[in-house]
Order: sequence, then structure tokens, then C-alpha cells
Amino acid sequence: MVKDIVLKTTNLRKSYGKTTAVDGIDLSFHTGEFVGLLGPNGAGKTTTIKMLSGLTKPTDGSITYFGLDFHSNQRFAKGVIGCVPQINNLDRDLTAYENMYHHALLYNVKDDSTNEKIMIALEFADLINYTHRQVKTFSGGTMRRLVIARALLHEPKLLFLDEPTVGLDPQIRRDIWDYILKVNQVKNTTILLTTHYIEEAERLCKRVLIINKGRIIAEGVPDTLKKDMGRYVLEVFKQEGIEERFFETRNEALASLKECQETCKIREVTLEDVFLKLTGRRIDA
Ligand SMILES: Nc1ncnc2c1ncn2[C@@H]1O[C@H](COP(=O)(O)OP(=O)(O)OP(=O)(O)O)[C@@H](O)[C@H]1O
Ligand SMILES: [Mg+2]
Repeated sequence: MVKDIVLKTTNLRKSYGKTTAVDGIDLSFHTGEFVGLLGPNGAGKTTTIKMLSGLTKPTDGSITYFGLDFHSNQRFAKGVIGCVPQINNLDRDLTAYENMYHHALLYNVKDDSTNEKIMIALEFADLINYTHRQVKTFSGGTMRRLVIARALLHEPKLLFLDEPTVGLDPQIRRDIWDYILKVNQVKNTTILLTTHYIEEAERLCKRVLIINKGRIIAEGVPDTLKKDMGRYVLEVFKQEGIEERFFETRNEALASLKECQETCKIREVTLEDVFLKLTGRRIDA
């Protein structure tokens, strides 16, 4: 049903001079989906988010929200999307509450219930204890949480998260994952998350789009994408580098390991292997 499609793009393209950042991508997201856009540095993830959120104009292609053209329905579209940019853009001299209030003014959601809405959003983000503290005193993870809470204040149907956990330590990263999953599950908010962390894409996303050099080179459920490779990898450490051999079962990998003269290790297949097979290089290389 068309109504169920939150966002659709056709042949979306962006060039900066001679650089083609996004090279004709077609996206289609349904209500409540959790989609990952996974790709290495410079793949075109941020440029895609910037076009989808109206921060930069596409060179070509179309974007629709709920079947309505973005360009001619900007006010409507901007009301249904929330955006967490790659670089935090909080006002560091203001408190958490003041940053939220500022957003309410910008999005014209200021009314008698604004205070209540801000407190509910801060509570949902587990930030109540930070309400009246200046942002410059926050840790990186707490700032990130606040940027997400702020993007949700006007209750968007679709949330863009551009590298939400980059630079955070593993525990804080997991806390942010829990928060994002809660947003998706409790509020049924459709989420598009960009990342170059394999584990993040595999843990959170029901569907993954793999992007490289501005093009979507693979798309699907993480498990299905991986299954095509086999389930287990035997890494053989040779002088010239690591050789990877793929197997359907752990027992097959073990049998091969027993015959190995070199140092070997068995691990499960990841989306990194999928990317390597498709492009010949690693995502975080
Ligand atoms: N304003 C700009 N002017 C010129 N080139 C740009 C601009 N913004 C991005 N690019 C180029 O477009 C390409 C895609 O960049 P983009 O920031 O979208 O990648 P990304 O996938 O978000 O990378 P990262 O993982 O490093 O955030 C890169 O080659 C980049 O140098
Ligand atoms: Mg980026």
C-alpha cells in the first residue's frame, strides 16, 4: 500500500563539481522499518542523509514522503523527519532543557504542553538528571543521547541517524543502541541509520543497504546477505597475509582446520566479508 511507504527516492544523485558523492540511488522505506546504510568513509552516507533531510539539494532524482514530493511539500516533509547529524550541533552553553526548548521553537511545536513534552522526551532518553545542566559538562555519549531526544521532540515518523555512536566507548555504544531500539519498538518510528561499524548494522538493522562510491551494491536482511557466503570462515595466517576459506558448517571448517599447517582461526561470517567480496576491500580499511 502506497500509504505505508514513508520514504521513496528515485535515481537520487549528488555531485560536487567533478566528485559524484551519490550516484543514483533508489530507496523505499516502510513504516516501522529499521534500515542500515553501511559503507566506508566517503561512500556517500552523509550526503544521502543531507539530501533526504533537505540540507543539500540533489543534482538529480526525486524524494517523496508519504507519496508527496519533498521539494514542493517541504513544510510537511520536515515535520515528519527527525535528523541526528554526524557532528553534534547542540548549543554547548545552553542546558539540555534549553536546547530542547530551542528545537520546539524552531519546529513550531511550542504550546501549553511544551514543557511536559520536553520532560517526557528527556525521561524517555534517561536524561532527567541532566535537564538543567549545561551541555558542555556532558560526556560524548550523553550529548549524543540529547541530540537524539531533541530530534524526536516533534514526534517524527522517520528518524535519520548519521553515525550515532562514532567515537563512543563500547559500553556507551550499547546504551545508545538500547535507546535507539526502544524508539523504534515503542514509538514505531522508522529509522535510517548510517554506520561503518559492522556490528552496529548487524545488531540493529532488520535490513541493510551496502553503499560504496555512491552506489547501493547490495541490499537485504543481514543474515541472508551473509548466508550467500557460507556461515563460517577459516582464517589461515600465511606469510603473504590472511587467507579466508568459507564453509557452510562449523564441522566442515574444523575438518579443514585440522589439516592446516599454519596458524588458523575459525570465526562466523560477517557483513565485512560480504563487503570485501563485492569490492575487494574492507569497510574500515
Ligand atoms: N560539500 C562537499 N564538497 C565537496 N565534496 C564533498 C562534500 N561533501 C562530501 N563530499 C565528497 O563526497 C563523497 C561522499 O562524502 P560523504 O560525506 O557523503 O561520505 P560518508 O559516507 O558520509 O563518509 P564518512 O563515513 O567519512 O562520514 C566524498 O568523496 C566526499 O569527499
Ligand atoms: Mg558521513
